[in-house]
Amino acid sequence: MALLEIEDLHTYLYTRWGTVKAVDGTSFSLERGKTLGLVGESGCGKSMTLLSILRLLPWPAGRIVSGRILFDGEDLVQKSEGELEKIRGKRIGMIPQDPYTSLNPVFNIEKQMTEPIQIHLGLKKRQVLKERVTEILRKVRIGDPEKRLECYPHQLSGGMRQRVVGGISISCNPDLIIADEPTTALDVSVQAQYINLIRDIQSTYNVALLYVSHDLSLIFRICDQVAVMYAGKIVEKGSVHEIFKETLHPYSRALVTSIPPVDCDIERLPSIPGQPPKLFALPQGCYFAPRCPHAMDKCRQAYPEEFFVSEGHSVSCWRYA
Ligand SMILES: Nc1ncnc2c1ncn2[C@@H]1O[C@H](COP(=O)(O)OP(=O)(O)OP(=O)(O)O)[C@@H](O)[C@H]1O
Ligand SMILES: [Mg+2]
Repeated sequence: MALLEIEDLHTYLYTRWGTVKAVDGTSFSLERGKTLGLVGESGCGKSMTLLSILRLLPWPAGRIVSGRILFDGEDLVQKSEGELEKIRGKRIGMIPQDPYTSLNPVFNIEKQMTEPIQIHLGLKKRQVLKERVTEILRKVRIGDPEKRLECYPHQLSGGMRQRVVGGISISCNPDLIIADEPTTALDVSVQAQYINLIRDIQSTYNVALLYVSHDLSLIFRICDQVAVMYAGKIVEKGSVHEIFKETLHPYSRALVTSIPPVDCDIERLPSIPGQPPKLFALPQGCYFAPRCPHAMDKCRQAYPEEFFVSEGHSVSCWRYA
C-alpha cells in the first residue's frame, strides 16, 4: 500500500470573482521512503494540493469539495481538526518555503526544537529532551550542538538555521515530509547545500518526500516519481526517467524542453505560447488544447481520460487513446 494516495481530489476556492477550481480531480500516490516531484506552471494548484493534505487551506475561501487523501490507509479528509493536529508536525513534517524566517527570533534553538517533541511525543524531562535534540542537530551536521542549543536564531549562520529547520521537520520521526519550493528564497550555493541536507535527512530516516519546485533540473536529480500538473489536474505521471526521457504529454514536453542546457549557448529558451486558462473559466475539452500544437477536434470537445502506456506511466491526452 502506498503511504500517500490522493484520489480524485477537488479543492475549490470560493472567491468574489467566482469559484476557482484550484485542484480539479488530482490523483497520485507516493510510496514510503520515495520522493515525488510535483511540477507545473505558477497557479496550476501545486500549493493548494499540499495545503489540502494538511488541511491548511486559505480560510474561509478554500474547501475540499470531494476526493480522498489516504495517508497510511486513513482518509485525512474525514478527520476532525483535533485528529489532524496530531498528524501535522508529527507524522507529516513540513519544510517551509523560507527557512530563514520560519524560526522565532525570541526563543532559543532548544526551546524551538523541543516544543514539537513535547507536544507530539509527550516527552517531558528536560534532560531527555535535550539529549534528543542534540542528537538531531548532530544528524543534520551541526557542529558543537550543545552550545548551539542555547543560541538564538540570529546567532546562527544562514546555513545553520536551515539545518535547524530541517531538524525540526524530522524531530518527531515523520513518515512524510512536504516541501513547497523550499529553496526559492536561497541563493544558488546555499540551495545546493540545502538540497543535500534534505537528501541526507531522507535517506537517514527513510521518509517519503513530496517536493514542489519550479526547478526541473533539481526535480530530475532528486525525485523517483514526477507528476505534471496543469490547471488543477495531473496531465502526466511516471518515473523521473519516463517523464524526462520518454515524455508524452505536449505540456510536459514543453516544460522539459524549457530546461536550459548547461553545455551550450542558446539565444532564447523555447517558451510555451499562450497563457494557462483561468481556473474559474475553464475551456471545454482538454484544458491545454488552446495552447497545444497537436490539438485535434476531439481535444476541444472532451477532457481526455487517463491512458496508461506502461505500469507506472500515464498520460491524459487523446493522442494516446
Ligand atoms: N487565497 C486565495 N484566494 C483565492 N484564490 C487563490 C488563493 N490562493 C491561491 N489562489 C488561486 O488558486 C490557484 C492555485 O494556486 P496555487 O497557489 O496552488 O498555485 P501554485 O501551483 O502553487 O503556483 P506557484 O507555482 O506560483 O506557487 C491559483 O489560480 C491562485 O490564483
Ligand atoms: Mg505554490
